[in-house]
Amino acid sequence: MRNIIFIAPPAAGKGTISDLLVKSYNYEHISTGDLLREEIKKSSDLGKKLDEIIKQGKLVNDEFMINLMENKLNSLDTNKSFILDGFPRTLEQAKKLDEMLVSNKVTNNLVVYLNISLEEALKRVMGRVICPNCKRSYNLNNEELKPKVDNICDDCKVGLEHRSDDNEETFKTRFQNYLENTSPILDYYKDKRILISIDAMDTLDNIIAEIKIEAEK
Ligand code: AP5
Ligand code: MG
Repeated sequence: MRNIIFIAPPAAGKGTISDLLVKSYNYEHISTGDLLREEIKKSSDLGKKLDEIIKQGKLVNDEFMINLMENKLNSLDTNKSFILDGFPRTLEQAKKLDEMLVSNKVTNNLVVYLNISLEEALKRVMGRVICPNCKRSYNLNNEELKPKVDNICDDCKVGLEHRSDDNEETFKTRFQNYLENTSPILDYYKDKRILISIDAMDTLDNIIAEIKIEAEK
C-alpha cells in the first residue's frame, strides 16, 4: 500500500479514517495531534506550553513540528506503510517533509484531501468524545459513531473525554488557520500529481473504499 498523507480541516475525519485503515491494512498511524496531547498529559514544562497553544487553536511552530516528525520517521519500521495525520500543516512543513522522505528513500506516497464544510465540521466537533487510551473518536450526534455504552470506549472500556480545543470559539480559529496555512499546500501537491480529493461528508465505508483503490495503485 502507498503511504498516505492527509490534508484536511479540523474534524474532517483524519483520525477516524486512519483507525479504519490501520485495522484493515496494518498501516502505522502517525497523528501529530495525538503526539502533542501525549506530551501535554505528562504536565512537563513543554506540555504546558503546548497546551496553551492548542487550547487557543493556534499552530505549534514549524521548527518544533519538523523536528518531531523527523524523529518519528527515522524510528519507523521500514517494512510498514504509514499514514501522516496532521502533518504537514504549512508549506514549510511540506517542503521539509519532501526532504525527509527523499533521505529515507520513501517514494510511494498518496496525498488525500478530505473536503468538508465549516458547518459540518463544527457539528462534528461539538459531538466528539475521544478515548484517552486508544485515541478513538466517537460522535454523540451520530447513531453509528456513538459508543455502545454511554461514555465508555467500546474497545478499552475506559471513560471518554472531550478535547480542550473542541469548543466553538477555538474551532473557528482552527478552521481559519487551516484556510490560511494548510490549504495552500494543496496546490503544492497538485503540481506533484499525487493528490486526490475525497468528499469527507460521504459515509465512512465509501471513503475507505475510495482511498483503498488509490492506495493500492
Ligand atoms: P489535531 O489533533 O490534528 O486536530 P485537527 O487537525 O484539528 O483535527 P481533528 O483531530 O480535530 O479532526 P480529525 O480530522 O482527526 O477528525 P476525527 O476523525 O476525530 O491537532 C490538534 C492541534 O495540534 C492543532 O490545532 C495544532 O495546535 C497542533 N498541531 C498538530 N499538528 C500540527 C502541525 N503539523 N503543525 C502545527 N501545529 C500542529 O472526526 C471528527 C468527528 O467526526 C468524530 O466525532 C468522528 O466520529 C466524526 N466523523 C468522522 N468521520 C465521519 C463521517 N464520515 N461521517 C460522520 N461523522 C464522522
Ligand atoms: Mg484527529
